Formats: sequence, structure tokens, C-alpha cells
Amino acid sequence: MKLFIDTANLDEIKEVNEMGLLNGVTTNPTLMAKVGVKGEKAVVGHYRKICEMVDGDISAEVTTVDFQSMIEEGQKLAAIHPNIVVKIPMIKDGVKAIKWLTDKGIRVNTTLVFSAGQAILAAKAGAVYVSPFIGRIDDTGWDGLELISQIANIYSVQHYTTQILAASIRNSNHIIQCAGLGAHVCTCPLEAILGLLKHPLTDIGLAKFMEDAKKSK
Ligand code: E4P
Repeated sequence: MKLFIDTANLDEIKEVNEMGLLNGVTTNPTLMAKVGVKGEKAVVGHYRKICEMVDGDISAEVTTVDFQSMIEEGQKLAAIHPNIVVKIPMIKDGVKAIKWLTDKGIRVNTTLVFSAGQAILAAKAGAVYVSPFIGRIDDTGWDGLELISQIANIYSVQHYTTQILAASIRNSNHIIQCAGLGAHVCTCPLEAILGLLKHPLTDIGLAKFMEDAKKSK
């Protein structure tokens, strides 16, 4: 399973990238606003910086919702760098835009996916990635991980090549469960990635080893 970071924060991207683990980055308009990136020039510059930092797929989301505007914006985003994957929302015009951009050789990540039916449409339209939002489903009292399992089964039975990019990750356990369920990618906040490192027995064991190491110095 590939590991992406779900942020537009360059320090966070750098931190995980330096561990040598990072396979890509996802952003969305909320994450871009959070780091104060405003205006077309600044947005393009920010995406370019991320692409230069990370050797992997970088998702850049359109900020329009009609077919014509989405394909125009999608082409502009894709022109920033070969690693850009255009994020298109799962709406009717979005499906049309996914098919159009894919036919033009532009790679698409379908975002805001909350059902298996939507995941089928994304695959049929030719998206490279489909992004089911696990945490937001959990927030409503449903089971986000169950959706990952359902999509993984359908894609396997139907031999769809679209990759499942588990998104809206809330904690480290989500990452572990997604790996077990066959997600191809998990895009995670920094804390959820760092949480994978943690175990109290590691800390206790290391403290004891360091203490005993002093005896042989
Ligand atoms: C990433 O592609 C999604 O936009 C993101 O994971 C959504 O996460 P959230 O539900 O925490 O906003």
C-alpha cells in the first residue's frame, strides 16, 4: 500500500518525506486555505513546490463544478508538473470530466466518494484513483472501512484497474485496517502516520537498552 500525506503544509510534507516513506500528497481546497495559499499564481507556485519536494503523485483539486470549467481547470493543473493528478468531484459533470480528461491522457483522482455505486462510476470513467472518505462516513455513524472492503471486492471481481485511495483518515488504526482490506493507497494526516511508530514497550525497551549500554562503555 502506498502512503500519501493529506496536507498542503510544506513542513509536514518535508517531515514524512525525510523518513523516506512518502509516495505522494493529496490536497483539497480546505487544506490549501488552511496554509493561506490564495490566488491562481500562489496556488500554482505551491503545487510546483510540492512536486519538486516529493517524487510521487500529487493530487490537485479543481475549484469549479461544471464540465467546461472543470476540464479547463484540470488541464491547467495537469500542466504544472507531470506528477499532478487532477482531483474531480463525484458529480454528473465530474464523471463526464473524468472521462474527457482521461481520454486526453490526464490522470484523475475522483474525490468525495461515499458509496460503492460512485466507485463503480469512477472506475468506468477511467479514473486512476478513487477516494472513498472513511472518516466522514464514520462521523455519520456508518462504517467507512466497510466501504473500502466493498469497493476492493467489486474492483477485484470486475478487474477494474482504478486504485483505491483511502481518504479522510482519522487515526493510525484506519491506516492499518485499510492495508488489510486491500486499499492501494492511504492518504493520511501527519499525526496518523507518526502514530504508527508509537508503542510504549518500544520506549521502555529502548530506555533499558540505553541504560545497559552505558555499562559496557
Ligand atoms: C483527500 O483526498 C481528502 O480531501 C481528505 O482526506 C478529506 O479529509 P477530511 O474528511 O479529514 O477533511
